[in-house]
This record gives sequence, structure tokens and C-alpha cells, in this order.
Amino acid sequence: MCQSSTCIMEKPLLLCMFSFYWHFLNALFTVEAPQSLYTVELGNNVTMECTFPVNGKLKFGDLSVSWEKKEELGKDVYVLLKGEEDFKSQHSDFRGRIKLLKENLKLGQSLLQIMDVKLRDAGFYRCLIDYGGADYKTINLKVQAPYRNITQGVVSTGDKEWKLTCQSEGYPKAEVIWQNGEYEDLTDKADTSYETGSDQLYRVTSTLTIKNRTHENFRCIFWNKELQKNTSAILYIADSADDVLRTESRRFVGAILVVTALVGSVLFILCIRKASTSKDKRTCMANSSVNTAKLPKDKDTHDWRGPPFEEEELKYIQIEKT
Ligand SMILES: *[C@@H]1O[C@H](CO)[C@@H](O)[C@H](O)[C@H]1NC(C)=O
Ligand SMILES: *[C@@H]1O[C@H](CO)[C@@H](O)[C@H](O)[C@H]1NC(C)=O
Ligand SMILES: *[C@@H]1O[C@H](CO)[C@@H](O)[C@H](O)[C@H]1NC(C)=O
Ligand SMILES: *[C@@H]1O[C@H](CO)[C@@H](O)[C@H](O)[C@H]1NC(C)=O
Repeated sequence: MCQSSTCIMEKPLLLCMFSFYWHFLNALFTVEAPQSLYTVELGNNVTMECTFPVNGKLKFGDLSVSWEKKEELGKDVYVLLKGEEDFKSQHSDFRGRIKLLKENLKLGQSLLQIMDVKLRDAGFYRCLIDYGGADYKTINLKVQAPYRNITQGVVSTGDKEWKLTCQSEGYPKAEVIWQNGEYEDLTDKADTSYETGSDQLYRVTSTLTIKNRTHENFRCIFWNKELQKNTSAILYIADSADDVLRTESRRFVGAILVVTALVGSVLFILCIRKASTSKDKRTCMANSSVNTAKLPKDKDTHDWRGPPFEEEELKYIQIEKT
């Protein structure tokens, strides 16, 4: 540090004067960052802003603007040198996705737009401006991918046992919390695994095993602690496995009854028609009362309906009778 009293004694006067003048100038020229943290969703655009003083008309030839990403080795994001854009040093991570809104420079705003934001864009950015004086500010960019799309599954794994599964992709890592209808926490009964999914996202899969309970709601919550954001899905266990089977068989019997009624009435109509033409009412009565399995041999009905359909129905009828 160059304090004016010690300065004169220890350092050449000229250097001291220059140093003092430099600090004085810098004190006048300050870059500000109206917002020091930006949070953006993966794939969206973000515009980060720095401001600097412009007195009167901007002299482009005197202006240098640069944005760089702070990492072990800094990455150049954007460079404007003495009024000329220079993309030679731009890091390949940013190629084709960066725009500086030049019209706003006149107003003393350095607006950097990053398009189609990637997860690796997250981090700290330094916005430097040299215009008479020089200064910079640091801005933090956070990238998030909400666990928006939750795929759920309910699978019966045996006697009154169910596996409930919730899966989703996002960033950063989310915890999965499970609750029942009474909001009791069941998380410790669940298994949650993390894989790397598409595009560096986390694929989070959580499975809860439930025994002995039916007609109940369960909820899985993806808790993104860092972003303080929750998304959730509700799963419902409808019935026990037995009930499901019973419902199925009830439907089967119902279908058979309908088919029987249809075939019966068709046969009856056919019979009456046949009887009135052949004037043989006895055959008709015999035909309809006798086991319908004989019917495929009857030419008339064959031509009228086609064999496969009819045989299918007859099979049902026989099942129904036994
Ligand atoms: C990002 O900006 C570009 C260019 O301005 C535009 O075409 C695109 O639709 C924007 N994307 C989103 C997600 O807004
Ligand atoms: C949710 O996931 C399904 C299947 O993975 C996909 O088809 C659908 O587009 C996704 N919806 C959203 C909003 O991401
Ligand atoms: C759960 O199942 C066990 C046997 O597996 C049975 O003894 C118990 O009564 C069941 N509990 C409920 C609430 O159905
Ligand atoms: C998200 O859910 C968890 C668990 O229910 C809760 O502790 C937390 O406060 C919730 N956070 C927000 C932002 O809703």
C-alpha cells in the first residue's frame, strides 16, 4: 500500500504519484452489478447485467468490455476490445450462445445474454469494464432443472404387498420423501437411488414397499433442498390382488351373458323365418331347444355370419352351460 507519508520516504516520487492518481481514478470509475445472483432453468436464456458510468456520448473506441467465467483457468466468454468485438479467445463452451446487447452500452449497461443455458454454465462470472478507469464485479449464475415430470408405478409383488415407484430427472440432487394419506413420514421404508441421466441430470428413482394396506393414497415428494423447491406425485393403491382378479372374472361372466342373449335371439328369429318358409315348425322348435353346439353344421347360419365369429360365441355358450 502506498500511504502518502511513508511513500515519499520509501519510493520514488513519480511512482508514488502515479499510484495515488490511479487509485483516485478507480474510485471514480465503478462497475455495479444490480443483481449478483441469477437462477435460470436449463435450456432457457439468461441476461446478466453490469453497469458503468458514461458521461455524455459513449466513445466506443475507448471502451473495453469483457466477461469471463471464474474457474481454475478463467474462460473467456465475451471480449470487446477498444470498441471491437473479439471472438478469438472465446472458450468453446460458449460458442454460438453468447450475445452482448451493444445498443445498451450507450446507457452504461453491459448486458450479456447466454442462450440455451447448460448445467456447466453455472458458476461465477466476472464482468470487467475499462473506460477511462477500470473495475469489475462478480455475478453468480445458478442453473436448475426441476423434477417436474414424475413417472410413477404401482406393482403388486405378492400377497398384499405393493411396490410404489417414483422416478424423475433434475438438478441438483433431490431427496425423495414419502408420506401416506395422513402425512406420516415413510421415507425410512423407501430405497432411493441416483444415476446420471440424460444431459448430466440426476435420474432419481425411489421405491417404497407397502404391506397389508389398500384403498390408500401415498405421496412421493422430490425435495430440491438447494433450490427450496418441491414437486410431488400421488399414488393410489386401489384394491388387493384378489379383488382385482374377482373384478376381472365378473367382467368375463358378464360378457358371456350378453353374447348368449344375442345369439339366442338371432337363432330364434332365424328359426321363425325358416319355419314360415318351410312350414315346418317342429324342426324349428327342436333346433333352438337342442344344444346350440350343433349349429355350425347348419348351412344357413354359416353363410350369414361367417364361421370364426360364430364358433367363438358357441364356445362361450358351452362354458356358460357347464
Ligand atoms: C433464447 O433467445 C433466442 C434468441 O433471442 C430465441 O430464439 C429463443 O427462443 C430463446 N429461448 C427461450 C427459451 O426463450
Ligand atoms: C414427461 O415424460 C414423458 C415420458 O418420458 C415425455 O413424453 C413427456 O414429454 C414429458 N413431459 C414433460 C413436460 O417434460
Ligand atoms: C397384516 O398381515 C398380518 C399377517 O401377514 C396379519 O396378522 C395382520 O392382521 C395384518 N394387518 C392388517 C392391518 O391387516
Ligand atoms: C418440501 O417438502 C418437505 C417435506 O415435506 C418440507 O420439509 C419442505 O419444507 C418443503 N419445502 C417447500 C419449499 O415447500
